[in-house]
Amino acid sequence: MSQKTIKMIVAGAGDRGVAHARSAARLSEGNVEIVGVAEPREHHRNQMVEEFGIPPQNAFTDWRDMAEREIFADAVVIATQDAMHTEPAEAFAAKGYHILLEKPMAPTPEECRRITTAVTENDCIFAVGHVLRYTPYTQKLKEIVDSGALGEIVTMDRVEALGYWHQAHSYVRGNWRNEAESSFILMAKACHDIDWMHYIMGARCTAVSSFGSLQHFRPECQPEGAADRCMECSVESTCPYSAKRIYFSRLRKGETDWPLNVVVPNPTEERLTEALKTGPYGRCVYTCDNDVVDHQVVNMQFDTGATASFTLTGCSTAGHRQTRIFGTRGELIGNGSIIKVFDFLTETWTEHDTNAADSSILGGHGGGDGGLMLAFIDAIQNNDPTRILSGPQETLDSHLMVFAAEQARREGRVVALDSDTH
Ligand SMILES: NC(=O)c1ccc[n+]([C@@H]2O[C@H](COP(=O)([O-])OP(=O)(O)OC[C@H]3O[C@@H](n4cnc5c(N)ncnc54)[C@H](O)[C@@H]3O)[C@@H](O)[C@H]2O)c1
Repeated sequence: MSQKTIKMIVAGAGDRGVAHARSAARLSEGNVEIVGVAEPREHHRNQMVEEFGIPPQNAFTDWRDMAEREIFADAVVIATQDAMHTEPAEAFAAKGYHILLEKPMAPTPEECRRITTAVTENDCIFAVGHVLRYTPYTQKLKEIVDSGALGEIVTMDRVEALGYWHQAHSYVRGNWRNEAESSFILMAKACHDIDWMHYIMGARCTAVSSFGSLQHFRPECQPEGAADRCMECSVESTCPYSAKRIYFSRLRKGETDWPLNVVVPNPTEERLTEALKTGPYGRCVYTCDNDVVDHQVVNMQFDTGATASFTLTGCSTAGHRQTRIFGTRGELIGNGSIIKVFDFLTETWTEHDTNAADSSILGGHGGGDGGLMLAFIDAIQNNDPTRILSGPQETLDSHLMVFAAEQARREGRVVALDSDTH
């Protein structure tokens, strides 16, 4: 890495903003300085100020005040909530900052296009948090597919098993439960998967269809005798989605990071008890104000003739994405770390263990968090946007697939994607 020091600021110092700041500081070997933060929550803002030695005049309660100041850094990480990405992206682009924007870009196609236009017109180096593209696993898998080892892809099948407690935490009780406050779940969560499938397929998607609903986490499924808060519920011990079990079991194992630190900062028995008695994460999963679906399937047609199917489900064991790719000369099975390839000609399996290349140094999401940050830093230092795998156009393309799929689900029809959107 060259020695140019990059000054970076963070808009929204919640879970992701802090994670990006830490990974920039750690991975850049001293070449990134975090020099500013905008965050309304005092505790979170102060934590950043102390951890990174941010001068007090560079700590703001609102990203708008930070964007109004004369430009004082090279790059900004925008990690506000989903529905609060467009305005800061436009404002910081206009000021001349390079931008790492968390996914999803924005909750509507119009806003996504506005962001793409703003960063293109202002010549920003721009990366979106599609971290899955940057993992050693994905890079190996892409290399195998592009080498022709499978022949031509005929079809692809991917399952995102969200995990029962993750569904309850994020998409029933938490930040992504309600579409009006964030975005629909296919965008909030599975934009990663649709983007990944598009990237691996390397072809243009021409049409999509989709089905899905909020089947389980609704009032009519609440067990008899249940209370609206787990701390007061007499049938809580029989419920797999009990907040008491999900959070206290982790705390008692000594875990204090995500998801516990989202429920309450610096969790202890007392603080967690209070948060579950009074806060959103202690609510019964059957009587929250959630409206995003708990399962959805998407079918895709590509211009090569290939097809793909995707399943998202919250009723599952935790957090594994399984993929099968069927080609004209072979088949590939991947589980997020091990890739197995069967060759039709030699009738042999080859196994690639992508854990062997230790990605733990690169941080969360299988090394994707660090891979993204390193690419962003590298692109700025070398003034070379091609280092970024999730730039404005490819991100817009896969977001438009997600919007089309959601439209297909709502309208119960096949939706064609215009060729001019790619
Ligand atoms: N790439 C990934 O894998 C991944 C994973 C999780 C979340 N995300 C995305 O990252 C983004 C942030 O998610 P999070 O989990 O960190 O959420 P969060 O709620 O922890 O963080 C958002 C922060 O923005 C702050 N904020 C609100 N108004 C603000 C304002 N006017 N100015 C500055 N800050 C303001 C909030 O106080 C909060 O601290 C979301 O878009 C989310 O979808 C991406």
